Amino acid sequence: MREIKGTTAVCGLIGNPVEHTLSPLIHNSLSELLGVELAYVPFLVGDGKIGEAVRGAHALHIKGLNVTVPYKSAVIPYLCGIDPLAHKIGAVNTLVRREDGYQGFNTDMPGLYRALLSEDVAVADRDVIILGAGGVGRAVAMMCALNGASKVYLLNRTLEKAKTVADEVNAAAGRKCIRAAALADYHKLPKEKYLAIQATSVGLYPHVEDAVIEDAEFYDYVGVGVDLIFNPAETAFMKYAARAGARTMNGLKMLLYQGVLAYELWNDVKVTDEQAQAVYQRMEEAMGIHE
Ligand code: ATR
Repeated sequence: MREIKGTTAVCGLIGNPVEHTLSPLIHNSLSELLGVELAYVPFLVGDGKIGEAVRGAHALHIKGLNVTVPYKSAVIPYLCGIDPLAHKIGAVNTLVRREDGYQGFNTDMPGLYRALLSEDVAVADRDVIILGAGGVGRAVAMMCALNGASKVYLLNRTLEKAKTVADEVNAAAGRKCIRAAALADYHKLPKEKYLAIQATSVGLYPHVEDAVIEDAEFYDYVGVGVDLIFNPAETAFMKYAARAGARTMNGLKMLLYQGVLAYELWNDVKVTDEQAQAVYQRMEEAMGIHE
């Protein structure tokens, strides 16, 4: 731990739970690498306390906060402003301190975009399958719509939810590229190799054997299989996809870049690819992944 002084700025994470977060590792590593005098700490916020937490943080001159489950939407009423992208997504994961409160941003989706870019995975003009139409699936659909994806099939167990989300995202993005379908109807899609993004919580540790679609035939539609889960490092979805010959990627790089983008917003700095890569290595070590 570096020395904490009277001039050390504080940032942190608010959520519930927060014990297993990698965010302190990301931000404290960045501060060390960039020579920024900043300490980043997790703050557990109990039920019904999000408003108080935001007001208290502002009073304490906390420079910036990340927001995680279950407060990414619940925090919005307590902000002094919201970035247009975060507004479209309907979720905020980064708060930046202003004179009269915090302004909300979403760096999760730009983080996913930058993670895909870092792996040379294009979104523009690409046909995409998204699995899941919850908060995360909705955000991914928005990211695809705003970054020029061609056709985006939003597949969900509950078809009605996918339809509602598709309508909302098409309206907000001003283009009709999202189409809803039931998970079970994947075989009705045009047969090609898609960028497939797994955006449900199915397969998350400890349920490591589960995949949202366990039918091997589905994976013939997968050219690149991206799971937003990073624990386990290789999900059952990724194993199925790899077995069918697809390239695969987990959610750890998205986590890295959402952090990098938040860090850049708070500190008005630019993190280089080398610095991001150095942080990523520490994240892999912390997850017990040694390449
Ligand atoms: P999040 O914010 O992580 O997206 P959420 O809003 O609760 O969480 O959404 C969970 C998503 O995972 C939904 O798309 C959900 O499908 P339904 O809308 O049909 O509930 C999906 N999901 C969760 N468990 C699932 C399962 N066992 N099989 C298929 N889909 C599942």
